[in-house]
Parts: sequence; structure tokens; C-alpha cells
Amino acid sequence: MRVAGRWGPTLLFARVELRARLLQPGIRRSVAQQAADLRHVGDSQAERLAGALDRIAADQLPAESARALDRIEAARRAMLRSAETVPWADDTTQSLARICARASQPPSGARLLHHVVAMWQPREALELGTCVGVSAAYQAAAMPSGALTSLEAYPALARQAERTWREAGIDNARVVVGRLADTLAPTLAGTSWDYAFIDANHQGAATERYVEQVSRAASPGALLALDDIDYSAGMRSAWESVRQREDVAASAVVGKIGLLALR
Ligand SMILES: C[S@@+](CC[C@H](N)C(=O)[O-])C[C@H]1O[C@@H](n2cnc3c(N)ncnc32)[C@H](O)[C@@H]1O
Repeated sequence: MRVAGRWGPTLLFARVELRARLLQPGIRRSVAQQAADLRHVGDSQAERLAGALDRIAADQLPAESARALDRIEAARRAMLRSAETVPWADDTTQSLARICARASQPPSGARLLHHVVAMWQPREALELGTCVGVSAAYQAAAMPSGALTSLEAYPALARQAERTWREAGIDNARVVVGRLADTLAPTLAGTSWDYAFIDANHQGAATERYVEQVSRAASPGALLALDDIDYSAGMRSAWESVRQREDVAASAVVGKIGLLALR
């Protein structure tokens, strides 16, 4: 889960962040430097990734996109206020508000993904780890002529994600229910994936395995985004390993999200 701490401060954190700027000054400087470095590489994928970083730094949203993101945030607020519980692991239940506050990508990270997808314009996008559908909604809203498929272990979360998308007016996202060990390979088969966001099992070995599986099925020039690359020693080492893969043309880090542009 993403935000440690007790319930009250967690919810407060989530709400305060709704008004936060996309990039802290230190991250903004790092993004600008990475974009400049990528432009020196002289490779079309590095140039494309630099363009995505420029877009993140500018953080400009066309009016229609801003309205779409407002609708998603309204759906998030409804979940944060909800008194509902959903079935959870080991026959327990869990508060929907708590799951949403602790596991969903915060507005800044979700908007960052929105910018990346808007720049890359995938036709087929994949997400590992749907939860209640917040990050999927942000990404799907950035690709009006594409479709996003998201994978989630818990059926109750998948149903809630579909509700989130309905409420936010997102009609180009779908969820596949089941554990990644069962769903990832069949989902990857037969489709040329242009983009993937990996945000499920945040363990180093699993992350390396997902990158390997997804890269093999990805179309040339695809982009992979990985969340929580600084979450643990295992994740840091996995990130260092995957960014040096032969099939990676260029990589960048924005906060805790790693971006890999494939050849
Ligand atoms: C951090 S949350 C995803 C948050 C979501 N991407 C967002 O920002 O709105 C991770 C999700 O991945 C799911 N997950 C974790 N391991 C999984 C696995 N092995 N198979 C399928 N889903 C898994 C969890 O149930 C959880 O809902």
C-alpha cells in the first residue's frame, strides 16, 4: 500500500494533494536536465521521451482534458467519502475509502501518467494493478483513439473500477480479473501493446519478470512506466537492471515513476 500511517492523516494527505503542483522544484530541475541529456543521445526514442518530459514539466491541459480529470477527481472524492466496504483478502472486508486513499495513484502521479500517455498516444495500453480504477481513468482519458486494459486480482476492486470509469465518463477502459500469474500471459498474447503501466506487485523480482514479459509482447517503440521504483532496495535494484536492458532505447525517472522507451 502506498501511504503509511493512520486513517485520518492518510485521508488528509490525499485531500491536500488534490491541490498540489505536479512537480516539486527539485524534480522539475531533474526533469529538465534529463530532457536535455536525452536530446544529446541523437535517437528518435530518446527524443520522444524528452518530449514527454517537456509535457510533464509544462503541465498544460487542454480544457477538455481538464474537465475529464475533474470528473475523475469527483469520482475519487466520492470514494474517499464513501462508508462502503468491499470484500478483501482472506474473507475480510476493507473500507473503500481507505483502499482508495492508500493505494490509488495521487493526483500528481496520475496527471503525470496522463501527460505521458497523451504524448505517446498508444492504441493498446496495458495496466498491471487496477485497484479502484483511478490511474486507469487518467491514462484512458489521454488516449481517445486507443483502449486501456487493466489487470486486477480482486473482483470487488475490479467492479469498483468499472463504477469509477462510468462515473467519470471513461468508456475506453476494461478490466481483466485474476492474478497476474494467470492473466498476464493470455492478455499479452495476440495484441501489440504500445504502452504499459506496471503498478501491481511492488517487489523487485516480480517487477523484472513483468518488464521481461511485457517487453517481449510490446510493439516497437513502446513505452513502459513503472511505479514505486524507489520503494525498497529490491525495487531500486530492479530499476537499475531493467533500464540497462538491450531493448531499452532511453529511460527517465520522474519522482518515483520510471519510464522506459523501448527500441
Ligand atoms: C497500488 S494498487 C494499483 C493502484 C492503481 N494503479 C491506481 O493508481 O489507481 C496495486 C493493485 O494491484 C493488485 N495486485 C497486486 N498484486 C497482484 C497480482 N499478483 N495479480 C493481480 N493484481 C495484483 C492489488 O490488488 C491492487 O489493487
